[in-house]
This record gives sequence, C-alpha cells and structure tokens, in this order.
Amino acid sequence: MTSKQILAAFAIAAVAIFPTVAVAMDYVVGDEGGWNLNGNYTAWAEGKQFRIGDTLVFNYTPGAHNVFKVSGPDFKACRVPTTGAVYSTGNDKIPLTNAGRMWFLCGKGNGKHCLQGMKLVITVDPNVNVAPSPASPSPPPPSSSATRIRVCGYQALPMMMRMILVLVATAVVIVV
Ligand SMILES: *[C@@H]1O[C@H](CO)[C@@H](O)[C@H](O)[C@H]1NC(C)=O
Repeated sequence: MTSKQILAAFAIAAVAIFPTVAVAMDYVVGDEGGWNLNGNYTAWAEGKQFRIGDTLVFNYTPGAHNVFKVSGPDFKACRVPTTGAVYSTGNDKIPLTNAGRMWFLCGKGNGKHCLQGMKLVITVDPNVNVAPSPASPSPPPPSSSATRIRVCGYQALPMMMRMILVLVATAVVIVV
C-alpha cells in the first residue's frame, strides 16, 4: 500500500463513522417546559430512543432546582444523595456515555421535588445509528450477541476521536 492508499482507506473509515456523529441528539428534558414541578418526565421519556453519544439537557432557573444522577433504589425512594455529582447551572448538559438505565432527580426540598414528579429514568440503547430490531423475548443467539458486542465497542469510541477522524478525512480529501 502506498501512503496515499493508506490515507484513502483512513478517509473511507472516517466517512463510515460520520453518520454516527451526525445523528447525535440533544434531548431537552421536558422540552419547552424544562425541568420543573409541572413536568411529567415519564410521559416525556416515553417513545424516545436514547443512544450513546446523545446528550440530556436540563433547563431550569438556577437555585430553584438541580439534577442528581442517582442509583435505581435512590430514584425509587426519592432519596437525595449526600455525596456525588450534582448539576446546578440551570443548563446542565449530561452526555450519555454508557448503555443501560440512568436515573435522575431534583434534590431540592430534601426529596419533595422528586416526590412531586421531578424524576427521570431513561434507558440508553447501545445500538447507535442502527434501526431498532423487533422486540424479542428470548436472548439473541451467540452469533448475534457477538455482533452486538462489536457494534457496542465501535460506538463506544470517544466522540472526540470520531471528530478527529472526520477532520483527518476532510484534510485527506483536500490533499489527495
Ligand atoms: C405521567 O405520564 C404517565 C405516562 O403517560 C402517566 O401514566 C401518569 O399518570 C402521568 N402522571 C401524572 C402525575 O400525570
């Protein structure tokens, strides 16, 4: 392979990655209503497909509310952690970096806000940029789960690395 061919191969790989970058979504929790006591975040999350690389945005008046990322049991009990990360800027952007469940609640009022509905649970889908497959009650066969693991690893590539690849691809296209 000449160095030009290697660069071209790299460009193709980067272009293949590009759609993943293009479809990353910012989800504003509660939409225009934002994060407050009048929201129904069960209803808001319903039917949304959260994926690795997407971002949750919590908008609220700073000081009035905040956002704790909590465990499942804390979520269920509306228990506000005494330690751990609290988001409180009023425009908190939380990247979805792992597949699986994520729980959030407002810690104001020592759990009262949470009890009034300021709680959000989402499930992050590992299959970025892949059409949802029909729900299947049985576990997937070994070959398909191997594919899944590979897809998962590929999609776990840090966003920054993908961006760099895309930039390199662009440079290559200009140079070649
Ligand atoms: C919130 O929405 C869910 C799902 O649509 C519904 O089942 C629930 O009753 C609503 N809760 C309130 C407090 O309105």
